[in-house]
Amino acid sequence: MARRRFLGSGVHALRGLLLLLLLRLPVTPGTTCPTPISVEHADIRVKSYTLNSRERYVCNSGFKRKAGTSSLTECVLNKTTNTAHWTTPSLKCIMIISTSVTLSVVFVVSALVTCIKLRRIFQPTAVEIENLEAMPMTRGSSSREEDHRNY
Ligand SMILES: *[C@@H]1O[C@H](CO)[C@@H](O)[C@H](O)[C@H]1NC(C)=O
Repeated sequence: MARRRFLGSGVHALRGLLLLLLLRLPVTPGTTCPTPISVEHADIRVKSYTLNSRERYVCNSGFKRKAGTSSLTECVLNKTTNTAHWTTPSLKCIMIISTSVTLSVVFVVSALVTCIKLRRIFQPTAVEIENLEAMPMTRGSSSREEDHRNY
């Protein structure tokens, strides 16, 4: 009795296994996706290369996903060629401009603008330059006069 029941359950298990194999056959013609294409400034770690697998690209450090683009890619079957391929991701990774960099640029620019403004307000430099230029010129002319005298 016990042996019969055991055999019966074994047949059931075998039938179940066959059914599972039959159901799986059309889905598994040995199709797996190849390595996904590379996206600039991004990386992907694929967990599964099987059909319908959905994976996400991750932007490298210092870069972020551009709004409106998708990091998603899916392993799909091309029915005409019967090959699996990843869908082309629309992902664009753009450089992150850190707030510290922005702030230092703003500081340098404002400092330069202030310097230029201050120079325009205090203009003693023009007078100083005139005096400096006048000195060697008089000296030059006097020497020239001396030369004339010598001739
Ligand atoms: C399947 O692959 C062929 C050959 O590469 C291509 O011409 C066709 O557009 C693809 N079909 C789909 C649905 O992607």
